[in-house]
Amino acid sequence: MPRIYAIANQKGGVGKSTTCSCLAAALSESGLTVLMVDLDPQAGLTVSLGLDPESFELTSYDFLIRAESLNVADIICATGTPGVDLIPANLDLAGAEAELIGEIGWDRTLKENLSLITRPYDYILIDGPPSLGVLTTNSLMAAHQVMVPVQTEYLALRGLTQLQRIIQKVQKKGNPGLEVKILRTMHNSRTLHSTEVVDELKQAFGAQVYRTVVKRTIKFAEASRAGQPLLQFARESEGARAYRQLAQEVLEDAEASARQR
Ligand SMILES: Nc1ncnc2c1ncn2[C@@H]1O[C@H](COP(=O)(O)OP(=O)(O)OP(=O)(O)O)[C@@H](O)[C@H]1O
Ligand SMILES: [Mg+2]
Repeated sequence: MPRIYAIANQKGGVGKSTTCSCLAAALSESGLTVLMVDLDPQAGLTVSLGLDPESFELTSYDFLIRAESLNVADIICATGTPGVDLIPANLDLAGAEAELIGEIGWDRTLKENLSLITRPYDYILIDGPPSLGVLTTNSLMAAHQVMVPVQTEYLALRGLTQLQRIIQKVQKKGNPGLEVKILRTMHNSRTLHSTEVVDELKQAFGAQVYRTVVKRTIKFAEASRAGQPLLQFARESEGARAYRQLAQEVLEDAEASARQR
């Protein structure tokens, strides 16, 4: 069974899609197979991989709304990274929220449809939208762990309470095993303020914070512009190394969780 991660934060531009593609690339370097699911109607992940969202006939919209009447393998496409596949998104997905909300069990739709995938992926990474609606709830219901990228800036912490509330609701009502972990990202190590936030997060969330801190560097934007994950665009950059370190932590968590079962 694949280990499923929801990458979520309702704040825009905090590094969700970047984390998705870089972590996937890092896991694949360790010989693991990864399926990424673009669950954002803006399709930031799909675009950052150099793909044109409008060029796909089948997308995550079809995967959510009519997976049972399709061959799900037809919705999955390869990416430039060997071992990493993608369910792409486009604007169609914006209509899925309204279609799902009227259905019984709307919040379990993604979980059920992921179980239709027959290829034995090691990891599934769901890249969420910058909102806390139907799509994010579906990703939290489907996941073993939610990874929350947080910019190390004071204002970035304020939105966390709202997300935490929804996570707690999901844990209580449908997915009691959902683990939560925070990834500190876009860190500017030159400002004292950022360093204080890094420490503050560690104090407030303890073991629920990854040891890895991803620093702010222009290389990430350059890589997306080139349509590649940073791990391919600049293999030995500091950012690439940070995501390799994150992948090691993810593997440690998977082992710990397997031991508990
Ligand atoms: N550590 C980093 N340092 C500097 N820039 C970064 C870093 N991580 C990501 N970026 C850049 O910041 C921008 C936003 O990142 P990304 O698209 O991953 O965020 P997001 O949370 O997915 O945004 P959205 O909520 O709009 O989907 C992109 O241009 C990306 O290349
Ligand atoms: Mg995004």
